Amino acid sequence: MTYLGVDYYPEHWPEEMIDEDINGIKGLGANIVRIGEFAWHRMEPEEGRFDFSYFDGVMKKLKEAGLSVMFGTPTATFPAWLAKKHPSILSEDEQGQTRVFGGRRQYCFNSDKYKEYAARITRELVAHYKDEEAIISWQIDNEIGHEGSDLCYCDQCHQAFQKYLEKKYASIEELNETWGTIFWGQTYNDFSEIPHPKPTITTHNPSLKLEWARFRSYSINSFTHEMTEIVRECKGGHQTVTTNVSGGFFNKSFDHEENVEPMDFVSYDNYPVWGGLEKPVPRESIAMTHDFNRGLLDQNYWIVEELMGAQGHDVIGYLPRPDQAKMWSYQAFAHGCSNMLYFRWRGMTKGAEQFCFGVVDHDNVYGRKYKEVQSLFSSIKDHSRLLDAKIEADVAVLYDYDNIWSWRAQIQSKDFDFNEELLRLYRPFYQWNTAIDVIPAGRDFSGYKVVVVPVMQMMEQGLADRLHAFADRGGTVIFSYRTGLKDKDNNIRLGETLPGPVSKLVGARVEEIESLTKEHRLAIRGEEEWEGAAAYVSVWRDLLVAEEAEVLFRYTDTFYKQFAAVTRNRYGSGDVYYIGGGLDADTLKELVQPIIEKHGIFHVESEEDVEVYRRTSEEGSFLFVMNHGEEVRSFEDVELAPYESRIIKQE
Ligand code: GLA
Ligand code: ZN
Repeated sequence: MTYLGVDYYPEHWPEEMIDEDINGIKGLGANIVRIGEFAWHRMEPEEGRFDFSYFDGVMKKLKEAGLSVMFGTPTATFPAWLAKKHPSILSEDEQGQTRVFGGRRQYCFNSDKYKEYAARITRELVAHYKDEEAIISWQIDNEIGHEGSDLCYCDQCHQAFQKYLEKKYASIEELNETWGTIFWGQTYNDFSEIPHPKPTITTHNPSLKLEWARFRSYSINSFTHEMTEIVRECKGGHQTVTTNVSGGFFNKSFDHEENVEPMDFVSYDNYPVWGGLEKPVPRESIAMTHDFNRGLLDQNYWIVEELMGAQGHDVIGYLPRPDQAKMWSYQAFAHGCSNMLYFRWRGMTKGAEQFCFGVVDHDNVYGRKYKEVQSLFSSIKDHSRLLDAKIEADVAVLYDYDNIWSWRAQIQSKDFDFNEELLRLYRPFYQWNTAIDVIPAGRDFSGYKVVVVPVMQMMEQGLADRLHAFADRGGTVIFSYRTGLKDKDNNIRLGETLPGPVSKLVGARVEEIESLTKEHRLAIRGEEEWEGAAAYVSVWRDLLVAEEAEVLFRYTDTFYKQFAAVTRNRYGSGDVYYIGGGLDADTLKELVQPIIEKHGIFHVESEEDVEVYRRTSEEGSFLFVMNHGEEVRSFEDVELAPYESRIIKQE
């Protein structure tokens, strides 16, 4: 069965509206609602006085209506009385400014006091509803570490950071040696001297910055796991556990794979446009987020917040066009979302999110968006087996949070953006409509045909060895610039030519490097089968000297005509590409076509704006076809109206 529903906040409305709302929600064709994730005060109005009577009443009505429930543990928004009694729970920004009560998530992950209260409300709530048949799932907190809440610079965090380092390093001497604190005379005599990276003149030590990010991840994931443990301990056997991942996951200071590890499934909040954006993010970027979430536990996932209306706090922007939100929902189902809830039933009339529009607006009229959700629910509900089927991709795009944090510590090019550089190599495969897994580099990738390794500057020998073995057995590896520069302590290896641990694999060496901007259009010229082809790089360039490798593209500017920009090395029975700069999208699309064809990977050509995604199940093979644009488009002999989506059975 597929769960389809909405996020409902009964506590936001007059009690007498609940029956009407439940009928309206049922009228959508929904079979589930998510409730409670922000209702701590309603459950514990004063310290230690737990009162679930309000939600008991709501649960009774939802149950009678045959609706299932995902219940959120309300630790993202603590009560005012708690902040007043224990101001130490409040987090601090890097300027040392306390984040006052009044927003949300402004708690410190290292506050033992907060953990004590959060654990208690979680225990009381889950134990209270453990036998409630209608509650099928618990959502831990809400979008943990989102909106800047992943970083706190308070004294508790500073001391916990020093303890974290003392536990990790055998001695202060080992830390000094590893970090190279001899530089600028920063040698520490004791762990209690080590700062946390609040603003300073020039910049902090790269190893310190990396360890700070790792410490943030440890703090956030420990909190999440502690709360999850409590839910698992108290919940009923029929209830599952999840947490909702928010967008911008590569910009956060916690390892998401580790964060969701104890969950039964991942939930994601999909907002292709938010706040003041003038237009939605590019379709490949949305697709990548789905493939990332599916990759976290290597299984299909839920979307517990799918956008239907425009969203924003103090600023809003683009209005999703008719059928556009429905199309984004199809895209999500195509990429592995197996159950979906829309945010939110009705837009709130009071509070910070008056402009986060729902399925029903403030006028309480069941209008265009209501009908759009109704039509989506009725068209998707009969495809449960297809939606539950596992996606087998032949292409894997690897990422590693340590590597991401090492780039964030030193971006090197003023226009470097990790998301953009991962998308740069994801996009060409997406444009050929192939299935792509976006997975942590630690995951076993031996079963894929193509492994893509974007800007992996931090690389350990273990990963290098697995990539050697993969190529040797016939796989294709695609690297991009700055590969292999750093060790796990975020230091550069002395006496090693780049690309370091994968030099043999690449069959070329980096002679010099240059940081460029995104405005740069540095022309490069094709060789071999690319003879005469014109292309360009921006953001960065490695000047390569090909050794065993072939040169596919070479620079053209003064002094550098002899250097390669793109190489291909035959390694064992595999191929290894090295893209030495921010290569343009058109050339990348052409470059990957022969790779896809060589490996016999499923792909189709499609018109501009048209995305095609093949899914297979025991019922056969189906194509999800989505028109992401305002023009009428077609795929094979099917005409697609603006933002139209179809599921087509392949004969
Ligand atoms: C997030 C949150 C919700 C709400 C919406 C608004 O995803 O989880 O509580 O703030 O965004 O778009
Ligand atoms: Zn703190």
